[in-house]
Amino acid sequence: MNKSFDEILEIRRHSAITSSVEVAKKELGYDLEKNEFIKVIIQPEGNQYYNLDEVVQIQNIFWLNGMAPRIKKIVKVNYDNEERDALVMGYLPKVNRYDYVLQINKIKQICNDNFIQWNDQGEDQELHDIGNWIKDRFIDYGGFKFIDKQKYIDKLNKKIESQTHFGKSYEGRKARYQSDDGLDGKRKTQYRIDKMKLKDIDFNNKTVLDIGCNLGMFSQYAKKRGAANVIGFDINEDIIHCAKEYANIKGIYDIEFLTTDIDWDRKHKRPKMPSADIVFYLAMSQYLGFDPDILNLANEILIYEGHADEDAENTKKELLKVFPIVEDLGYTDDRSIRPIFICRKK
Ligand SMILES: C[S@@+](CC[C@H](N)C(=O)[O-])C[C@H]1O[C@@H](n2cnc3c(N)ncnc32)[C@H](O)[C@@H]1O
Repeated sequence: MNKSFDEILEIRRHSAITSSVEVAKKELGYDLEKNEFIKVIIQPEGNQYYNLDEVVQIQNIFWLNGMAPRIKKIVKVNYDNEERDALVMGYLPKVNRYDYVLQINKIKQICNDNFIQWNDQGEDQELHDIGNWIKDRFIDYGGFKFIDKQKYIDKLNKKIESQTHFGKSYEGRKARYQSDDGLDGKRKTQYRIDKMKLKDIDFNNKTVLDIGCNLGMFSQYAKKRGAANVIGFDINEDIIHCAKEYANIKGIYDIEFLTTDIDWDRKHKRPKMPSADIVFYLAMSQYLGFDPDILNLANEILIYEGHADEDAENTKKELLKVFPIVEDLGYTDDRSIRPIFICRKK
């Protein structure tokens, strides 16, 4: 842990207290992972609570632009014998603090691009305030607000349309691959969840890997079902950026989305993805086949969906080489006919 950062962790600003790993554990009763710190939010008497999710989402938009530490969770802690909201944050690598003009211009630009009101306090004072900077790390966007959140969401959805489409264009235009409530996509997420009988799988406290996660709808599903750790990864950096931003605006902050080419990693004997209790391997066989190294990333369950017009018999044979139990759940046919199997190690 970074010592110089530790020294100034007990700072008080406005109504927040920022705390180190040790303080969090001892005084707040919250266990932090390394590379995390915690900010306890204390509302002054009579001050109407601002929308905490909105604060988190805005700060994470800055995180996505390299200008803030990521907020991973909103938690409750016991502080001064009262239950308080607290934010678990990751560290931000050092930024060049001395070039204020550049930094402030970048902040203003991010605000303009995302329909965020950037300065609540008049002039630029808020940004120069020592409280916003901890040892050259920009940390606090607490005073920022959405001017028009719907416009931000509409813009994000347009970006998702143009960047997470996959394969051929859809009815003559680019379209998101995965659908969401009220938002069309080439693939119908809820239909797939139902067909694969995911409600029968216990995600509670499980580790989950979503291979070729695209927009991350199955990572989100696992998280909502109580998974402890979820990693979604995809070869495409733009897709991963969308996945992060989309989960953030939906209030799901603690999925790890990573840009990784699993095939490349494997061939070059790079450290592979960690194995997980449950692995989603959906519409991936046309890219990655039935490599046992990949299928074996599932310690307990692999949720398998094939590609269009795949030979289901052959697929089952391949899966049985790795999993003693392969349950045949039929097909999804929202786009094309694809076999689905739930594979278990025991
Ligand atoms: C057909 S889509 C399936 C997306 C998702 N699994 C689903 O079923 O909704 C394939 C996805 O895999 C990603 N992909 C392709 N090759 C990959 C690789 N070698 N490593 C990681 N992701 C890959 C693509 O970028 C794309 O998002």
